[in-house]
Amino acid sequence: MTEAPIGVFDSGVGGLTVLRALVTELPQERFIYLGDTARLPYGTKSRESVSRYAAQAAEALADYRLKCLVVACNTASASSLPTMRERLPGVPIVGVIEPGAQAACEASLSGHIAVIGTEGTVRGRAYEEAILRRRSDARISALATQLFVALAEEGVCSGPIALAVARHYLQALCTPERDGPDTLVLGCTHFPMLAKAIRAAVGEKMRIVDSAATTASAVRQCLHSAGLLRRCGSHAVRFLATDGAERFARVGSRFLERTIAPRDVELIDL
Ligand code: DGL
Repeated sequence: MTEAPIGVFDSGVGGLTVLRALVTELPQERFIYLGDTARLPYGTKSRESVSRYAAQAAEALADYRLKCLVVACNTASASSLPTMRERLPGVPIVGVIEPGAQAACEASLSGHIAVIGTEGTVRGRAYEEAILRRRSDARISALATQLFVALAEEGVCSGPIALAVARHYLQALCTPERDGPDTLVLGCTHFPMLAKAIRAAVGEKMRIVDSAATTASAVRQCLHSAGLLRRCGSHAVRFLATDGAERFARVGSRFLERTIAPRDVELIDL
């Protein structure tokens, strides 16, 4: 099984920020990335719909004999991990919420943590629960910052529009007053793309947690403890999407910071 690929699942191209971190952390592994671009966005859909989509994705990924599945989508991680585990028995599944919550608890001195995500992630309160399980004294301020998703996909990641939107959402949430949060969790695949605008809106003192890097190290640990790390060879990535190979390649190249050719994106049905 050490030669088997690691699956990475997301609602679309956003999870490529997590894939980027995984490739950096695990440069000898093979990856299969599935973006459900036909049904994106997940963040504004009901919990039931997201769970149904995620279950279908897990069933499709069962054919690829994965050694591990990373659910890069925060919205799906927040609502659908148990359903996905039922569909992929025996395959370790790592979501992004638990590693992100762990990193936030370690980063925060005051215990007041702000979380931003999609509507679905915030409504499901998964980050709150994961943080409170680790730190019962924590105080969490959560906010859906849905426009960030559209900005990141449009490539409007810096400049006056991105900064105005970041200020619109974050200035009230991250007040510099004494009991404001000292840590901000980027609880969505797209938000690292806006890191500079977010930093400018919240100020230098705020600790910002990007769950991509912490998830990648959780995956390494998971594979290491199962004896499944690939020891040699170079990494390879296979891209699967449910719609729009050209758009996936174009927008995805920015998220991955590496050119993806449309011909390298295989379209599949779930
Ligand atoms: N991948 C989603 C997430 O991290 C954001 C995009 C969407 O809403 O589908 O929550």
